[in-house]
Amino acid sequence: VRAMGHELVEQFYEPDELGKALRDFDVAIIRSKTKLRAKQIDEAKGSRFKCVIRAGVGLDNIDVQYAKDNGIEVKNTPKSPSESVAELAMAHMFSCARYISIAGHTMREDKWEKKAYGKGIELTGRTVGIVGYGRIGQALGKRCQALGMKVLAYDIYQNKDLECDTMRYVEMDELLANSDIISLHVPSLPGQPLINAETIAKMKDGVILINTSRGTNVDEDALLAALDSGKVYGAGLDVFAEEPAKNAALYSHPHVSCTPHVGASTVEAQKRIGQEIVNIISEKFGL
Ligand code: MLT
Repeated sequence: VRAMGHELVEQFYEPDELGKALRDFDVAIIRSKTKLRAKQIDEAKGSRFKCVIRAGVGLDNIDVQYAKDNGIEVKNTPKSPSESVAELAMAHMFSCARYISIAGHTMREDKWEKKAYGKGIELTGRTVGIVGYGRIGQALGKRCQALGMKVLAYDIYQNKDLECDTMRYVEMDELLANSDIISLHVPSLPGQPLINAETIAKMKDGVILINTSRGTNVDEDALLAALDSGKVYGAGLDVFAEEPAKNAALYSHPHVSCTPHVGASTVEAQKRIGQEIVNIISEKFGL
């Protein structure tokens, strides 16, 4: 951005100072920690501030409609993180199937729990249910198919050209009832969490749940109860209802493989995100 001749200020602003600070900028580039709510938008409106770019996919940290209603354009970088998030979802699948996370922990405590962690399962031949079959869901689907898994996909937008012997679109209840592994790739959905006691009850016994989308899509108490009862065999979680995660009973559970919201945090994804942002700025203001 500097090379294009623009002034670039890299600074974190507290929520109380952000709105006023934005009045001095044309564009703000934010990650997930910075929230652009109605308060900040009210404080910034009527100034030169006209565009916010979310360096990532999820827009849940921005009051999008309110920003638009007040003449502020909202952009994100939806193309960049797909491969990285799909790879992390896959990594959590392997981790849950073979106890990789907990086995590594116990070895650091000088324990050799070969028996306890010697009853893993194979992913090959399993059915994976992918909720949200957009860019990330499809990137995951391809990897699962390459591993010899069958993909059941749920999405309101369907590209029937993607269907084949190893992939088909299904209704949500069919996905819940027939998947050995379920992976979420939808934005933060309004209303009660998508994965709750009722939807968990519809799943196969011993299912593995992967969530690299948003923590609010899972009722963490219901998931914990299901992990304790064995209804859910394992959970791979990159995102939590509250972040940094506070639910220690969940993230310390022996059948949970967890990471601190790093789905898009790879060298490659961050580089692509940077390029997508440069393209947006270049289109908007020219070189
Ligand atoms: C995203 O929405 O792009 C990812 O969750 C990454 C993030 O928020 O850090």
